Amino acid sequence: MNHFLDIHLTDPAALRSMIESASAMKAARNGRGLAAPDDETPLAGRMVALIFEKPSTRTRVSFDVGVRQMGGQTMVLSGSEMQLGHGETIADTARVLSRYVDLIMIRTYEESVLQELAEYASVPVINGLTNRTHPCQIMADVMTYEEHRGPIAGRKVVWVGDGNNVCASFLHAAGQFGFDFTFTGPPPLDPEVEWLEFARGKGIAVEIVRDPFAAVEGADLVVTDTWVSMHDSQSIRERRHNMLRPYQVNERLMAAAKPDVLFMHCLPAHREDEVTSAVMDGPHSVIWDEAENRLHAQKAIMRWCLGV
Ligand code: CP
Ligand code: NVA
Repeated sequence: MNHFLDIHLTDPAALRSMIESASAMKAARNGRGLAAPDDETPLAGRMVALIFEKPSTRTRVSFDVGVRQMGGQTMVLSGSEMQLGHGETIADTARVLSRYVDLIMIRTYEESVLQELAEYASVPVINGLTNRTHPCQIMADVMTYEEHRGPIAGRKVVWVGDGNNVCASFLHAAGQFGFDFTFTGPPPLDPEVEWLEFARGKGIAVEIVRDPFAAVEGADLVVTDTWVSMHDSQSIRERRHNMLRPYQVNERLMAAAKPDVLFMHCLPAHREDEVTSAVMDGPHSVIWDEAENRLHAQKAIMRWCLGV
């Protein structure tokens, strides 16, 4: 079963083939309006369930549009409105949904929900973000980097701020695609040791550098994300902001990286907190391409899951 649960759990050759397929599908559209269907419709007759237990703009819309472009149909379900949110087990939900749909994408809190869904579903399951990882995002990020600058292998990516779920998937991608990874942020927010070890085990350079200006030296790509994630309690907001203020991505920090450095943010961004508008809207930023590429990358992921 081709589940797409995480980048470190997926074969590097398969990951590479998904990036190539995403780029080919994007090129084949040749500037046609994003809403238009593809010339080929590999998902014709297929039904995809999109389950959200947390808010979403990009994931929700890009999956929905992607399925329709490929000739399939979607149903968008909110976790709280399903029996899942009212005591039915995840295993039973997985068994039932598998009788109706061909593919399930879920955005949830605990990673164990995703894992249990995949264990009991007899159709492929895609991770649309958990508290721990966000693999679809980083597939789009790798695609975006390569679109602008060529192969990402051997490049230096610097993550600035909270070592969160998106950072975790970046570390997985560093290992699988072979690029160097530096984390800069305060010690309590370091990425999980398990993910650092995974990337190190692949023989790439993985560093933690506390001074953000030293960290971005020689960087090909600077990435950040919100200081407070959806699974974090709002009560930590002030403490987080105080801890992370020295790690704001602003023009001064970007100037310390390579002259042709790119800037990425998975969005939604909090302008003037983790990143300034000058950087978001500035010459290094590729955030809108990054958001668009969620669509193309996820289409490739879905085709890989279904073998079509
Ligand atoms: N980047 C991302 O996953 O955005 P949404 O939360 O809007 O889906
Ligand atoms: N780290 C963020 C990513 C949102 C797409 C969160 O989990 O809220």
